[in-house]
Amino acid sequence: MTFAIAAFQAQGAHSVHDPVSRQALRIHQLGEAMYVTAAVVFVLVVAALLWSALRRHRMPADQQRSNRSISTAVLLATAATTVVLFVFLILDLSVGRAITTNPGKGAIQIRVTGHQWWWEVQYRDSLPQNWATTANEIHVPVGRPVVLELRSADVIHSLWPPNLNGKRDLIPGDENSLWFQADSPGVYRAQCAEFCGHQHAKMSLLIVAEAPESFSAWLSRQRDTALTPTDSVARRGQEVFLGSTCVMCHAIAGTPAGSRIGPDLTHLASRRTIAAGTLPNTRGNLAGWIINPQAIKPGVRMPPNRLGSDDLQALLTYLETLE
Ligand code: CUA
Repeated sequence: MTFAIAAFQAQGAHSVHDPVSRQALRIHQLGEAMYVTAAVVFVLVVAALLWSALRRHRMPADQQRSNRSISTAVLLATAATTVVLFVFLILDLSVGRAITTNPGKGAIQIRVTGHQWWWEVQYRDSLPQNWATTANEIHVPVGRPVVLELRSADVIHSLWPPNLNGKRDLIPGDENSLWFQADSPGVYRAQCAEFCGHQHAKMSLLIVAEAPESFSAWLSRQRDTALTPTDSVARRGQEVFLGSTCVMCHAIAGTPAGSRIGPDLTHLASRRTIAAGTLPNTRGNLAGWIINPQAIKPGVRMPPNRLGSDDLQALLTYLETLE
């Protein structure tokens, strides 16, 4: 199981070397410039070291001239170091400015709240009943700026989508923001980058960048309430859900379940993963997760659920209807 989880977490693009936004590209270019400069400096320092080691064998008559040339070399090296550091200071400030300047009114605002250990995601609207709440998966349209409003419900987390931008902390009692504009479609993985407790490593978020039409269709589905099940097994599953401890923590819009302690499950079946990017969202994984989440993510807030086999199967059938 550990191996399966590790292999799965490697999915979704997650690399600073493959920027798909101008923001990540600027960071990438700054990183490359630093890398190349450091490599050149390293080669020069090693060459100077070899040169001075070889010169020690020269005749004493040359000593005075040698001391003078060494002083000049030290002076030049100090001046060059100062210039290089100063140039990088300016580049660093300019990149920092470019990636944080707010893109303005045309941007899509998405509220992301960090919890131990999952991400709550809200697409707001002027009408509160039109808010779309989901978890651990963000959809964004390609070619349009997106501002993530970052908050925390408990401890400090940090959101890091390396293909799209740098890291930004989510701080309790404060609001931060991170923005990017994805220029190519794809699925990109963001990871919590601030140690936030036992399951910090299993706190990832998928960012699905897609064509504007697919994004609009996805968002309007997410704003809908869940359909009332018509099938008898799914109906029984809904009764199991509403009659068990599930309702104490989860919400499903369109049913009496409205708790916000755990992820909103209104459109659970539309998500690619469960448990914040830990497992692919399949019926088998969902069954294992419901029965004993502690085996998959020890320390997670969700308790084990002792359901009979028929109840579990009905519940799974119901959850699969939540598209
Ligand atoms: Cu949340 Cu680390």
